[in-house]
Amino acid sequence: MATTWKSNGHEKPIDWTTNTAGIVSPNPFWLASGPPTNTADQVMRAFDAGWGGAVWKTLGEPIVNVSSRLGGHDVSGLRLMGLNNIELITDRPLAINLREIRETKKRYPKHAVIVSLMVESKREAWHDIVKQSCDVGADGIELNFGCPHGMSERGMGAAVGQVPDYACQITEWVKEVATIPVLVKLTPNVSDIRYVARAAAKGGADGLSLINTINSIIGIDLDRMQVLPGVDGRSSHGGYCGPAVKPIALHLLTQVTTDPETRDKPISGIGGITTWKDALEFLLLGSTSLQVCTAAMHYGYRIVEDLQDGLGAWMRANGYASVAELRGKLKGQITDWGNLNLNYKVVARIDPDKCIHCNLCHIACEDGAHQCIEPVIPGVRETPEVDEVECVGCNLCSLVCPVENCITMTRVDGGAAGETWKERVARTGSSAAAWAASPIAQSRHGHVMTKE
Ligand SMILES: Cc1cc2nc3c(=O)[nH]c(=O)nc-3n(C[C@H](O)[C@H](O)[C@H](O)COP(=O)(O)O)c2cc1C
Ligand code: SF4
Ligand code: SF4
Repeated sequence: MATTWKSNGHEKPIDWTTNTAGIVSPNPFWLASGPPTNTADQVMRAFDAGWGGAVWKTLGEPIVNVSSRLGGHDVSGLRLMGLNNIELITDRPLAINLREIRETKKRYPKHAVIVSLMVESKREAWHDIVKQSCDVGADGIELNFGCPHGMSERGMGAAVGQVPDYACQITEWVKEVATIPVLVKLTPNVSDIRYVARAAAKGGADGLSLINTINSIIGIDLDRMQVLPGVDGRSSHGGYCGPAVKPIALHLLTQVTTDPETRDKPISGIGGITTWKDALEFLLLGSTSLQVCTAAMHYGYRIVEDLQDGLGAWMRANGYASVAELRGKLKGQITDWGNLNLNYKVVARIDPDKCIHCNLCHIACEDGAHQCIEPVIPGVRETPEVDEVECVGCNLCSLVCPVENCITMTRVDGGAAGETWKERVARTGSSAAAWAASPIAQSRHGHVMTKE
C-alpha cells in the first residue's frame, strides 16, 4: 500500500505536490534511473517508503553487463563520497519491464513513473519504444542522452547528448508520437551544457533532467595493481556520481536555469543529493523535482524520510507552505563575475573563547593566502591575530578552522556604495586604471619587491 506523504499532525501541512512539465508526483523526491529502479518490486517498495516518483532503469535493447562494475571514492574514511560505475542500461527484456511498469502504475496511480529510454538513432526505433511506453500508462518519458560509457561506443547515450543537432533530432522524433511529457536527461560531459539544453528545448522537450554521470577513472587497488572497477585484469572509463559531484551538478543546473532559452523549462535536478540541505539547494537554484541514485544505493530507500523530515522542518521554520514556492528563489544571485561588487569587504574575526590554539588558520593563511594571521605562541600570543588591513577576506582560514563559528567572516566596508569591475573599467577608462584604483594597488602586495 502506498504511504501517504505525512505532514506531522498538529503542524501546518505542507503542500509537497510537484508538477514537473505535467508529470505530477505527491512529493519532489524521485529515484533516478539506476539500480534502485530496476524492477517493479523495488519501485513499489520505494513508493511505500515515501518516494514520490521513480525513473525506471533505462529501457532499450537489453544488454549484457560485466562483473564487477562499481568503484567507490572514500575521503578520510567516509565511504562513497563518489561512486563510479561501468553498468549499462537494463539487462532485462523490454516486454518484462513494460509489463512491470503497467502493473506498478495500476497499483500506485498517484505516484510518478517515468520511463527512461535509449535506443539506436533511428526514427522507427524511437517511435516504437515511445509508443509502447505511453501504452503502459507511464506518466512521462526521460530520454537518456547521457550514459558516458559503453552505450556511447554504440552511438547512443552521451554520443547523442554531446551533439546538439542529434539531441534536437531525436527529441523531435520522440515528440512526434509521445502522448505524455518528455524530459531530456543531459550529460555533463560537454564543454557547455547550454548548447544541448537549447537543442533539446528546440526539439520540443517539455523539461530537462540533469546531470547524468561524469566521465571518470575511480582509482587503483594498489595491492592487486588493478585499475578499478576491475574486470579480469582490465577496466574502463565509468560514470561518476554521489556527494562529490553536487557542486558540478549545481553549476550545470544554474547554467540551464539562468539561460534565456531554457530558464522556463521545468528541471528535474540530479547529482549528489544526499541530505535535505542538498535537496533544498537544488530547489532554490531552480529544480522542480529531485532525483537521487547514489544515496539510495548507499543508505536504502528509507533515506527519503530524512529528506522529507529535514526539508519539512526547514520549510515550517522559514514560513514556506509549498515546495513550489522554493523553486528558483536564489538563482537570481548568480551572475557574471564582472557584475560582483568590488567594494564589498569581509575580514576574518577570531573568537578567543572558541579558539583551541591549533594554528591551522595561521599556516593556511601564511602559505595559501595572504600572510596576515600572526600565530599562537605560548606565553606571547594565546589567540592568532588577524591583520584586518591586509586580510583580503578569502575565507580560507574559516574553512580550515576545526571549530565551528570560531572564525567569522565579518563585513567591514560599512555598506559603501557598490561598484562592479565592469563599472570600474567604464569609470576609469581601462583595465590597468581600474586595477590602480583598487585596494590591492595600495597594499604591500601591490608593489614590486626591492632588496633592502
Ligand atoms: C550504477 C548506476 C547505474 C546507472 N544507470 C543509469 C541508467 O540506466 N540510466 C540513466 O539515465 N542514468 C543512470 N545512472 C545515473 C543516475 O540516474 C544519476 O544521473 C547519477 O547517478 C547522478 O545522481 P546521484 O549523484 O544521485 O547518483 C546510473 C547511476 C549508477 C550509479
Ligand atoms: S580570510 Fe584569507 S586573507 Fe584573511 S586572514 Fe583568513 S586566510 Fe588570511
Ligand atoms: S584554526 Fe581556529 S581554532 Fe585553530 S588557531 Fe585558528 S582560530 Fe583557533
